[in-house]
Amino acid sequence: MAEQHKLENLLGIEDLDLSSIRRLLDLGKSFKSELENGKKKFDHLRERTVVNLFFEPSSRTRSSFEMAAKRLGADNINFVADSSTSVSKGETLLDTAKILEAMSPDYLVLRHESAGAPQLLSQELDIPVINAGDGFHEHPSQALLDAMTIEAKKGKIEGLKVAIIGDIAHSRVARSNIYLLNKMGAKVTVCGPPTLLPPYVERLQVAETHSVQEAIADADVVMMLRIQFERQNTKQIPSNAEYYRFYGLNNETATQLKPDAIIMHPGPMNRGVEISPQVADGSNSVILHQVTNGVAIRMAILAALEEDRFGRRV
Ligand code: CP
Repeated sequence: MAEQHKLENLLGIEDLDLSSIRRLLDLGKSFKSELENGKKKFDHLRERTVVNLFFEPSSRTRSSFEMAAKRLGADNINFVADSSTSVSKGETLLDTAKILEAMSPDYLVLRHESAGAPQLLSQELDIPVINAGDGFHEHPSQALLDAMTIEAKKGKIEGLKVAIIGDIAHSRVARSNIYLLNKMGAKVTVCGPPTLLPPYVERLQVAETHSVQEAIADADVVMMLRIQFERQNTKQIPSNAEYYRFYGLNNETATQLKPDAIIMHPGPMNRGVEISPQVADGSNSVILHQVTNGVAIRMAILAALEEDRFGRRV
């Protein structure tokens, strides 16, 4: 059996070995099953404190890390770096993180607009850092919950055909998913207008197409992505209406899906831009399952870090 690497932080999927990914998915599955059986309180993180430090908006990731920490018995502090905090007076990321660390929390969950911010804090702080999304670099917990959802619905990942459609160039979700799906043996195709595919796409070891019809024709899994207007200096598509017509999973395009294909979206969705409301809410959609699995996988991440740091059994 391959040696299990100790998890000291969760900074990305690119550097995570397959056995660590498998461990987190299995642990997430086990927490999910206990949650489904009605268990709401665990004691894996009893007397610990988890700080969520968020410099960008979030609904799913922040609230599910908070839910996960509380389910595991930890205290949780939410620090949203908005105009009510001293970040608005010019305090830096590092100083903000240091003042929070001085209050003796045990884990820091960071979302930041700069790629590499979690790596920087992991070098400067003495507590584990979990990347909750850094610029367009990585969003590892999203990729793990997506993998958990695919396994739950399809029974496996190896050999599946996965189409990732939309703004690949600016998407940390796409990058983390590509790393994870490649490691687990899926066949990934990325699809989007030329302006929204990264110039280094061949380095990601995925197939590429500009045709949604081609991307979804034999896909087992279709992941739709939002256009990240906030990360673009100039508009990269002519209009939302045109994008929807050519690259959206609209009602007409969706008729070409395999009957058992699952449709995923990390959220937030822009209905009528990358996906139609009928498709988002239809029987092939697993979008809300992704959100549910987010709590279990974030419990798994925190519990695994705790086990590797303090030896508390999970
Ligand atoms: N998928 C995701 O990261 O959603 P939030 O931005 O709402 O956290």
